[in-house]
Parts: sequence; structure tokens; C-alpha cells
Amino acid sequence: AGESLARIGVVTVSDRASRGEYADLGGPAIAEYLKEVLSSPFEVIARVIPDERAGIAATLADLADRERCCLIVTTGGTGPAVRDVTPEATADVCSKMLPGFGEQMRAVSLTKVATAILSRQTAGIRGQSLIVNLPGQPRAIRECLDAVFPAIPYCIDLLE
Ligand code: MTE
Repeated sequence: AGESLARIGVVTVSDRASRGEYADLGGPAIAEYLKEVLSSPFEVIARVIPDERAGIAATLADLADRERCCLIVTTGGTGPAVRDVTPEATADVCSKMLPGFGEQMRAVSLTKVATAILSRQTAGIRGQSLIVNLPGQPRAIRECLDAVFPAIPYCIDLLE
């Protein structure tokens, strides 16, 4: 039965959440959102990892290649701070980038918060996986996924 389930990776990128200094709010918020919008059953594979470029890249590659996730959503590490390297790690493992996702999420987010301009979030393809970055603020999750969600199932279909 497990084989028929779509597998979705949810990656929280945060030094402090990975050390247990605060609870991961972003990962569960992404899973909750997916439960609301997806009609067919799916399995979430969740990871909480520090802001390390090589470790993020290895986690994304593992979720795509070994766990066979059709979609991987990250949260955190998209800003301008020294430790923010999620977009670089995403580009490291993707064969194609899909800059429209970041452009659209920033455009919609800018109508709500001026600081959305600080997010370098992007998206890309690795094998049959679509990888999408979201900012770390829990409220950004719904704002950003609402902005691009219609394109996600269509994109995944094109990768099969
Ligand atoms: N986008 C939305 N939709 N809502 C937000 O609250 N916060 C911004 C931005 N994008 C925000 C947002 C802020 S304050 C920052 S610093 C950047 O995302 C990067 O956040 P990150 O480094 O936690 O990924």
C-alpha cells in the first residue's frame, strides 16, 4: 500500500530548531497545508537540519534519490544572513532551476510584508523531484504556498 502513496519531503533548515532550542513550527505547518489542499493520500518525510550548505544539499539529494519524494518543500535559510544558504544548497543539487516560483512568492509576499524582498527563495528540479524553498517565518508558509500551489501538481506530472 505504501507504494501508491506520494512521498513528500519537508525540510526545516534552522540551526536553533535542529539543536532543539525552539520547536519546529514550519515543518508541521507545511504538512498541515498539504493535508488541506491535496485530495489523494501522501506520506510526509520530515527533517530538521542546521544551516550547513553541504548538509542541506545531502538531505535534499537523499529525499529525491533514495526516498523518491515527488515534492520537497524547505523552510528557512533563504535570507541575507551569513548562515542563510538554502537557495545555494538547492541549486547545488538541481539540474534545472525554476526561478518563477521565487519570483511569484516574493511578488505576493511583498503585498503583505516589505521584508519579503530579503528572501532569496527559489525552486528547481532534481530527477523526478520538485524542490521548493519557503522562508522560515511560519506565517510565510501559507502566504507562499497559496501563491504557487496550482503549479505544483502540474509540474510534478511533467516530471514523470
Ligand atoms: N515572506 C512572507 N510571505 N512572509 C514573511 O513574513 N518574511 C521575510 C521574507 N519573506 C516573510 C517573507 C523575512 S523577514 C526574511 S529575513 C526572509 O523572508 C528570509 O527568511 P528566512 O531566512 O527565514 O528564510
